[in-house]
Amino acid sequence: MKLWGGRFETGPSQIFEEFSGSLHFDRNLIFADTEGSKAFARALARQGILTGEECDRLLAAFDEIAREAQDPHYFDGASDEDVHTFVIRKLGEKAGALAGKIHTGRSRNEQVSLDLRLYLRAAVDTLLAELTGLQSALLDLAGRYPDAIIPGYTHLRRAQAVLWPHYLLAYFEMFARDADRLQQARARINVMPLGSGALAGSGFPFDRTAIANDLGFPSITRNSMDVSADRDFALDFLYACSLILLHLSRLAEDWILYSTEEFAWISLGDPVTSGSSLMPQKKNPDSLELIRGKSGRVIGDLTALLVTMKGLPSTYNRDMQEDKEPLFDAFHHTSGSLKMAKVVADSVVLNPAKALSAAEESWVGATDLAEQLARQGVPFHRAHQIVGRLVLESVKSGKKPGDWTAEQLQAFAPEFTPEAVRLLDPREGMKTRELPGGTGPNAVAAALAQAKARLRDLCSK
Ligand code: ARG
Repeated sequence: MKLWGGRFETGPSQIFEEFSGSLHFDRNLIFADTEGSKAFARALARQGILTGEECDRLLAAFDEIAREAQDPHYFDGASDEDVHTFVIRKLGEKAGALAGKIHTGRSRNEQVSLDLRLYLRAAVDTLLAELTGLQSALLDLAGRYPDAIIPGYTHLRRAQAVLWPHYLLAYFEMFARDADRLQQARARINVMPLGSGALAGSGFPFDRTAIANDLGFPSITRNSMDVSADRDFALDFLYACSLILLHLSRLAEDWILYSTEEFAWISLGDPVTSGSSLMPQKKNPDSLELIRGKSGRVIGDLTALLVTMKGLPSTYNRDMQEDKEPLFDAFHHTSGSLKMAKVVADSVVLNPAKALSAAEESWVGATDLAEQLARQGVPFHRAHQIVGRLVLESVKSGKKPGDWTAEQLQAFAPEFTPEAVRLLDPREGMKTRELPGGTGPNAVAAALAQAKARLRDLCSK
């Protein structure tokens, strides 16, 4: 069955049918399509185009289609052009000639927009819940080692000591912004397009706000040509997914590194690692590597649609059918990666002694020491110079911070008072960073408590 054909003398070639058909992927929209079509049937009834009895028959038929579509074999053997055509054919099988009225004043162009919006609105809600799950796993992991200290890095060189919860809260913030971004995308997705027709507005005076209310949309689109042409809302979704994956990928990279034998401060659980078919000793972080790998793929989905849309003339063009696979792919792999990351976080065991000694054996306290000299009145550039010389001397003579006695330090530079030297211990040094957002122990405890409260607020909404 086709939704067009009168104007043609011959049918499409088989190659063209196979090339252009989208049912094998847009079947994912079947539930959105039946839900949207039910609302449209009610709109037709409000216009008097369907009687109440006709409308009820169509609604029952759509419900039956949605029920049958639960069966994974429902589409076996179907050769319809797309999911919309498929649904209308099924409607005809159930409701007979009456099915021919459902497309009155409606175009597939607006129907695609509506179906995608319904699908993506639900997808956003799923991802938001999964983000919250991961954030709460990160807070649990922070709470398991509230006082642990790790070296923080810049340029992948040990930089300054930080609390383990402070490190994890950095990712908590990234995921909180990702949730914000999804909410913003949701707001632009959540606008009702029906009534736009193919591009010029429907020829029937539908009460568009009533359709919006029916489907739970807070507002209606303002321009019919824009609806036909627009995929910004889909790109917003893909961008939000891309940043989630980008953050997940960086977290994965950190943990792959920190769980190596070279770092060895964390270990990953057996359930999220795999072995080698040849090397019996291996325990590989495949779950994290795959998360990192999927980030490339989801960023590719965003890029694919950006490039597809660029340069299309107004309004709808069939190129836009290529929007769906990237969207489904990005949703599937973003969701899978979020679930995987949560399970990995649940499995992480920190070795606090090992992390602390990585901090202690390095010069992560150098800044604390220089800043203390500055607090004592030494101009900071001079303080920086003095501590720099101390580090150089230590590197040359193979000394770690803990190898210096207070007397030796005082002899090295008289500015090294006992108070200054005390701060070389990372646990003491970080106590100078008690401002909001810093790694001071009180600041971190407060941030952790606030993060928990924010998450509780989110979950109670
Ligand atoms: N399968 C098409 C798509 O996803 C449906 C819209 C077709 N409209 C058209 N004018 N050919 O874009």
